[in-house]
This record gives sequence, C-alpha cells and structure tokens, in this order.
Amino acid sequence: MSAEPHLVEDEGGSLTALLEVEDTTVQVDDGVARRPEPLALVVFGASGDLAHRKILPALAQLVERGSLDDHVAVVGVARSEWTDEEFRAMCRKLTPAGSSGAWEALVEGFRYVAGDYGDDATFSTLATVLDELDETRGTSGNRMYYLATVPAVFGQVARSLAAHGGSEPGRGGTFARLVVEKPFGSDLASAQELDAELHQAFREDQIFRIDHYMGKETVQNVLALRFANSIFEPVWNRRYVDHVQVTVAESLGVEHRGGFYETAGALRDIVQNHVMQVLALTLMEPPSTMDAGGIRDEKVKLLRSVVVPDPDEAVNNVVRAQYGAGIVGGEDVPAYRAEEGVDPVSETETYVAMHLLVDNWRWAGVPVYVRTGKRLATRATEVSMVFQRPPHLPFAGKLARDLRPDTLTLRIQPDEGISLCFGAKVPGPAFKVRTVAMDFSYADAFPGGTAEAYERLLLDAMGGDATLFIRSDEVDQAWEIVAPIQQAFSEGEPPLARYRAGSWGPIEADRLVEGGGRQWRNP
Ligand code: NDP
Ligand code: BG6
Repeated sequence: MSAEPHLVEDEGGSLTALLEVEDTTVQVDDGVARRPEPLALVVFGASGDLAHRKILPALAQLVERGSLDDHVAVVGVARSEWTDEEFRAMCRKLTPAGSSGAWEALVEGFRYVAGDYGDDATFSTLATVLDELDETRGTSGNRMYYLATVPAVFGQVARSLAAHGGSEPGRGGTFARLVVEKPFGSDLASAQELDAELHQAFREDQIFRIDHYMGKETVQNVLALRFANSIFEPVWNRRYVDHVQVTVAESLGVEHRGGFYETAGALRDIVQNHVMQVLALTLMEPPSTMDAGGIRDEKVKLLRSVVVPDPDEAVNNVVRAQYGAGIVGGEDVPAYRAEEGVDPVSETETYVAMHLLVDNWRWAGVPVYVRTGKRLATRATEVSMVFQRPPHLPFAGKLARDLRPDTLTLRIQPDEGISLCFGAKVPGPAFKVRTVAMDFSYADAFPGGTAEAYERLLLDAMGGDATLFIRSDEVDQAWEIVAPIQQAFSEGEPPLARYRAGSWGPIEADRLVEGGGRQWRNP
C-alpha cells in the first residue's frame, strides 16, 4: 500500500484528502498500478469452510472484476477424494451474481490433489501438477501457497513443500510465497515454535500472515483519517484524549465452530489479533512511509509500549464472561454451553473486557478500554476517542445535563463511517446544550460498495505487497500482552461472569470503566 496521499474533488466541489488506492490493482512503490503476475495459487484446505466461504468467493470476485491475469490457476489440496472435475463443480457454484463468464472460464483450468499432508506422495503429485500448469496455463513458475487448513499441520505442510523444492519458484518463476491463516499459535511459545518451523522452509519476506481485519477498508481508513488530514493529529494524544474505547461486538454465536472455539475463547480468537491490530493502527506514531516496513515498524513499536501487567494485576483489569440463553434479533438463542461441540460445563470465555495502558510519550496515563464478545446486542466494531471535558463549563449544571464528552468514533463495521459527537445549543430562549452527532458515511460518500477484506488481501499477497500482513514480531508482541491474562484465565481468575445473549455484556464490564467515572459507548 504505497500510494501517496492526495487531494480529490468530491461532487460538491470541495476538496477531500484521501489515500486513494485503485480498487482493482495493486499499487507499487513507483506509484504505477499493476496487476499481479501469472501464478499458481495452491489452497491447502480447499474442501474446508474458509476456502468455500471466503477465499474462493473472493478470488471469483477478483476474476470477474478483471483484476487478475488470465494465467492464474488454482490447485486445491485436501483429504477429500475429489477429482479435478468435482473441485471445479464446487468452484462453479461460487460464481458471482451477474458474472461475465470469466470465473467459469478460469475454473476450467483448476486442478485438485487429493491426499493427506502427512503423506509424501501428496507433495510429489502437487509438484508434478504445478509443472504441468506452468506449461498448459502459463503460470510461469510463480507459486502462492495458502494454508487454509487446521493450524496443527501448518509446519508440516511448509516443511514438505520445501523438501519438494516448493519454497523456491518453479522453472523460470520469480516468487514462492506462503500465506498463513490465523491462529498463529495459541500462546507466545507455540507462536515462536510455529515461526521456527515456517522459517526452516520459507524466509520471513515470503510469509504473509493474514489478519482479515487489516483487509477491511475502514480499518485502513484509520490511516487515512490520521495521516491524510491535519486536524486530528494535534489532538490525538494524552493532552486532549480522556480515554480510548475499542469494541468488537458480534451478534452471532459460535455457529458450527463450537469445537474450535472451546480451544480458543474470545481472548485468543479476537483480542490477540484483531483488537491488537486495530489498536496498533489507531495509537501508533506516524510512519515515515506507507510501505510494509514503515507501517509494521510503527505498529510493533506501539505494541511494545502496551503495559504487560503481572497476572495478579491483570485480574483486576480484565473481565471474562460467557453468554447464557437470550434473544438476539427477535429470536431465542441457546446458551453457549448448549451450543453444538461445546462442553456443557465449559468455562471458555465468549466475552472479554480489558483496561490497558500504553506507556509512551503520547498515551501515558490514558486508559484504553477494550471489549469483545459473541451474542451481544448487535454487530459493531468501532474505535472511539473520548476527549476530555472542557476545563470549566460556564453553564448552570441543569442546562448542560445532556452534554456528554466530545467523542470521535471510527465505525469499522457495519454502517462504516466516522461520527463526531459534540455539544450544540438547543434552540430556544434558555442556553441549554446537548450532544449532537456529525456523521460521515462511507456508503454515501463512495457509492458502489467496497471490496471484501479477503479480496484485498489476496490481491496484495499476489502482488507481493506485505503492508497489510502481520510480521512475526507483531504476533509475538501481541502474545506477550495477553500472556498474563491467559495465565490468570487458566487459573480460573477472574471468576467467569455471565451475560444474557442479546445484552451488552456483563455488569462487571460496566464497573471496569465506571471506576474512572466513564461509560461504555454502546453503538
Ligand atoms: P475446516 O475444518 O473446515 O477445513 C480444514 C481443511 O483442511 C479441509 O479441507 C481438510 O480436508 C483439510 N485437512 C485437514 N487436515 C488435513 C490433512 N492432514 N491432510 C489433508 N487435508 C487436511 O477448517 P476451516 O476452513 O474452518 O479453517 C481453516 C483455517 O482457517 C484454520 O486455520 C482456521 O483457524 C482459519 N480460519 C477459519 C475461519 C472460518 O470462518 N472458517 C475464520 C478465520 C480463520 P478434508 O475436509 O477434505 O479432510
Ligand atoms: C474470526 C474469528 O477471526 O473473526 C471469528 O475466528 C469471528 O470467531 C470473525 O466471528 C469476525 O470477523 P468479522 O469480519 O465478521 O468481524
């Protein structure tokens, strides 16, 4: 993501500063937009849920938009005993509405390798198929391997690829890349172990770790808001900000992933990755360049400044909870413990709220409150900067009763946009003031919609742009921050609180912020 900020004129003739990135092509350092080179995309886990729901549909959209070279071929690799034709038939079912026929035409060249990743023959067959595709589909020896399979086999697949020459480009090719899905380990030690395994086979600059939040337009818009404008940065610090809130709320439960979720919980599933990434972009220092090195260096510096409490301290600054039965969107929904694949006496947390501190010049002393949960009242991800109250209010208390602190909220999803809440005079003879909102809506400003996160990330990885991917030091640092909390949770501390499905979480989370006279801002 190397585009320079520049000014564009909107329909009303006013000038808006934007970081504009062409939505169908990858921007490269010289500012010239180009399409990814020909390549073979190998999907490990091709018969799985993620490939079916996210990766292949995103690829289909890119193809229909003309964003990809015609010489792109997909090879699915998984255990299911499918033939090439059965894999193609599954892919055809993912044809986007209003298709021009481009996806179905490309699918004709797709291949499928059935086999276990523990079996050497799977990788020999794959190598042969890739060589054939170079000849028949012009994939030019370039390889992109996508680990969309169970994390337990990530290291094994990487090693087997290397053993069959797969970590180097094929004949005449210029790159071999490895795209890795989350989770990157389940704690610091296992993340480092996984890295060591991956690094035996691929160099760090070949590895693209996905956090799909980084592919969301509005997460990237945090950078535009902060660094393409001059009015926000001067107040983006401890002198003006009273506290920061990050909310990642889901109304869905664990769906069909109960078994997986039992091993993860909200801390590992959302806080360690998505929340830390959003936090890092929101609070980091301005990068000197918008490229992979510039942005990732600043993110990791910020994560290093987050205070890592000891487990005893952590207990006082964190709330963990689990949902009971309730009503979401007008429908009765079961308790977490009654979900498929979940232990009926499970202690896994489906909700976490935390109070963090960032110990650096800009943020010292500013509380950062973070919360995430499943089966909450609504689906909403947002970051709010809550500003300090004016030093003196010259209105009699009653007249300013409805005045809340000025707040800038970045709405990441849904209803993507930005709101600024501030005080305004209520019309009438009395000088009453009340909080009002000034709203920017992404959908109104940019009709036509935005690409899915996976489209953007696939395209960037194919173009070799690592800016939106997670570097290993970021992963490690995020695990360092949650480590004491993991330890406390494993010792049953703090006690697991309860909340009703469809509510805004447990009362204990309100108490966490009320200590400072503050309140959660419910979307
Ligand atoms: P699934 O269980 O649905 O799919 C796993 C895939 O891996 C299947 O294609 C399976 O093949 C294949 N597989 C597993 N073990 C082997 C093996 N030993 N040899 C060959 N093939 C094997 O998992 P998901 O698609 O849900 O998840 C995949 C990855 O994506 C995980 O890392 C997950 O954490 C991550 N992820 C998933 C999300 C989701 O919404 N699903 C969201 C974010 C991340 P087969 O079934 O044919 O045996
Ligand atoms: C995934 C988590 O990483 O993110 C899921 O594993 C969660 O549990 C999902 O539901 C949320 O993503 P989004 O894009 O719907 O906010």
